[in-house]
Amino acid sequence: MRALTWHGKRDVRVDTVPDPTIQEPTDAIIKVTSTGLCGSDLHLYEVLGPFLSEGDILGHEPMGIVEAVGPDVHHIAVGDRVVIPFNISCGSCHMCDHGLMTQCETTQNHEMGTGASLLGYTKLYGQVAGGQAELLRVPQAHFGPIKVPEGPADDRFLFLSDVLPTAWQAFEYAQVPEGGSLAVIGLGPIGEMACRIAQHRGIENVIGLDLVPERLERSAAHGVQTIDVSAVDDIAEAVRALTDGRGPDGVIDAVGMEAHGSPIGKLAHTLVGFMPDPIAEKLMENVGIDRLAAVNSAVEMVRRGGTVSLSGVYGGTASPLNLLQIFDKQLTIKVGQANVKRWVPEIMPLLTGEDDPLGVDTFATHHVPLTDAPDAYKTFQDKSDNAFKIVFKP
Ligand SMILES: NC(=O)c1ccc[n+]([C@@H]2O[C@H](COP(=O)([O-])OP(=O)(O)OC[C@H]3O[C@@H](n4cnc5c(N)ncnc54)[C@H](O)[C@@H]3O)[C@@H](O)[C@H]2O)c1
Ligand SMILES: [Zn+2]
Ligand SMILES: [Zn+2]
Repeated sequence: MRALTWHGKRDVRVDTVPDPTIQEPTDAIIKVTSTGLCGSDLHLYEVLGPFLSEGDILGHEPMGIVEAVGPDVHHIAVGDRVVIPFNISCGSCHMCDHGLMTQCETTQNHEMGTGASLLGYTKLYGQVAGGQAELLRVPQAHFGPIKVPEGPADDRFLFLSDVLPTAWQAFEYAQVPEGGSLAVIGLGPIGEMACRIAQHRGIENVIGLDLVPERLERSAAHGVQTIDVSAVDDIAEAVRALTDGRGPDGVIDAVGMEAHGSPIGKLAHTLVGFMPDPIAEKLMENVGIDRLAAVNSAVEMVRRGGTVSLSGVYGGTASPLNLLQIFDKQLTIKVGQANVKRWVPEIMPLLTGEDDPLGVDTFATHHVPLTDAPDAYKTFQDKSDNAFKIVFKP
């Protein structure tokens, strides 16, 4: 089959690789019909190289048609239309029982000291072959795959794999009270969807921050008050001005470790990129390499006693945070990968009606053949050609 594989920093290719096969009784194989490109893939493309091996298949936002199931898989059958969550979880351990599928005790990576395995996401998370491919082996398929109805085009359901539950969790974790206010830093797919969800859930005062003009316009077009962070001197002050001078009740960081405007972190990223893997790996594990502009401004702008919800991915173990401010302002910080299946029952009814309240049908800007994926990675990273959400059609 053809698959998108990692070969080095900013070097991904479409290679011919062996077809996956059923290896465990709980596996399934799906023929991928649509598969998303995510901001998380850009971290692999740019800074997380030390945790990848040449030939690793990337991608964690797939959907498709079931081709084969192992003997222990019963809730889906050959021919079913399914969306595959990016986290791989068993559905029956202590953590899964508590809605913490990202911490699944069956797929935790003890050797790395990390949580549940993820599709296509480095040695830190099980080095599982990803979904930007013609075929995908789905581990823990007795639980993971979400069966979706026939009818609407793939985009209606595709974002259940990641964007929708991630943005839903980001909003839940921000703990905005009724009538309250929310700021969302970063208006990529995650941030923008979090704005849409907040509005759908009745929050009127939603403030979105980014620096890419097309992204600011996109959010403004559905009623978000936008702030161009590159055009204001004091970002927190600009946000406070829209929230009675107090700051929003909740702030979502939907940027993550590669935030613009963090010169020291950027230098660390560049240095790590030029080091041999074992040294770079240690450096990334032991030293703060995150670019912290987004999380720092979240801490600064949120109101006293408010909540910072981090969806953006961070990876440094010694990233310096402003603990004085966090403590003094009595903040709550809620973080982590999305527990996809935890939120599916709440999101699904918004996808099965006629009205498409979250606008998923028109959410993606680009649908391209998998063979064009290497160019698409570059376009998405450069944010050129108005690229916002790219979907590959294998
Ligand atoms: N927690 C999860 O489960 C989960 C799931 C998916 C994605 N993510 C993470 O969420 C983040 C966003 O993902 P995405 O697909 O929307 O990515 P993206 O790269 O398209 O979006 C990031 C946005 O942040 C903006 N930005 C950069 N620096 C900024 C700054 N200092 N202030 C304001 N805006 C800034 C960029 O212009 C861009 O529009 C990534 O870190 C990704 O890894 C987490
Ligand atoms: Zn993703
Ligand atoms: Zn589990």
